[in-house]
Amino acid sequence: MKKILVSGGAGYIGSHTVQALAEAGYGPVVLDSLITGHREAVGKDIPFYQGDITDEGLVSEIIKKESISAGIHFAARSLVGESVQKPDLYFEENTAKTNRFVNTLLQCGVNKIVFSSTAAAYGNPKEVPIPEESKTEPINPYGASKLMIEQSLYWLEQAYGLKWMALRYFNAAGAAWDGSLGEDHTPETHLIPLVLKTALEQREAISIFGTDYDTPDGTCIRDYIHVLDLAEAHIRALETLEQGVACGAYNVGTGTGYSVREVIAMAKGVTGIDMPILEAPRREGDPDILVAKVEKIQRVLSWQARYSDLETIIKTAWRWHQKHPHGYGK
Ligand code: UFG
Repeated sequence: MKKILVSGGAGYIGSHTVQALAEAGYGPVVLDSLITGHREAVGKDIPFYQGDITDEGLVSEIIKKESISAGIHFAARSLVGESVQKPDLYFEENTAKTNRFVNTLLQCGVNKIVFSSTAAAYGNPKEVPIPEESKTEPINPYGASKLMIEQSLYWLEQAYGLKWMALRYFNAAGAAWDGSLGEDHTPETHLIPLVLKTALEQREAISIFGTDYDTPDGTCIRDYIHVLDLAEAHIRALETLEQGVACGAYNVGTGTGYSVREVIAMAKGVTGIDMPILEAPRREGDPDILVAKVEKIQRVLSWQARYSDLETIIKTAWRWHQKHPHGYGK
């Protein structure tokens, strides 16, 4: 059984990927600081280590003890707004710490890594759908911190033969089929969980940030990708790296976008609850439309989104929120 070190495996996307790895016959081993992750999101039968990715002693001990053959690296800070307030935190926690983590992996003989990157690497899109070759000009420190990691992985490939893939996620959403795993962020800033929390009457209304965008209904359009599809993309990336296929960055999205109004309308349909809407001013830094070009990942990784129609995304997310109205362990 191939054992995979999953940093940030107790986080939202990490925990779904850990479960998918186990189901696919891999042996996931989780390393998570639990600063934003949840211990309850990782099955009791999965080896779990609490600690920081820069703890070289711990990371090398895990690699030896568990006979790790590759890494999937999720551990990161991921709040765009916070990154604008504290850019130093993001360059330290994301960029600098990843550099040290990958260095430890390489020193211990682990030379394959799948890295959790973001559509925020592109900044304001120059063309839609956005191809990977599009210019990367992040407009916030979060996107910049992740893009710098992609660049460092490229140079580590040239110097030391690192095999890497960076998956540029568009809008991760949805939850495990049985509602046992899902999204639990503090603070929560994402549209779909906030709409569903409004349906649960934990919030008075759902705000639409901006109704004057250059889109058919005036609200922002995003490419929502089911977290189970994202999890599968990581497994395909690992398998493809094993086969020695080209390293690089891959968009993970569907190629189809939905507006904020469409998301809210679907949530009303799925929940049967007519939650109040507040039309609010634009949120700073939101581009009109973000939709992935997905030809590269389909061609090279033979991966395609399977669960990412908006109804399935919202149904699974709703199941999670109903079962866990206050998230994990609360
Ligand atoms: N939105 C609302 N009301 C809310 C919350 C969000 O109208 O209460 C809107 C946003 O303005 C945006 C859309 O819903 O137009 C989606 O917003 P999210 O916060 O759910 O997601 P983002 O598109 O802002 O963020 C995603 C990822 C980030 C990544 C970013 C890149 O979650 O990690 O894309 O732009 F950095």
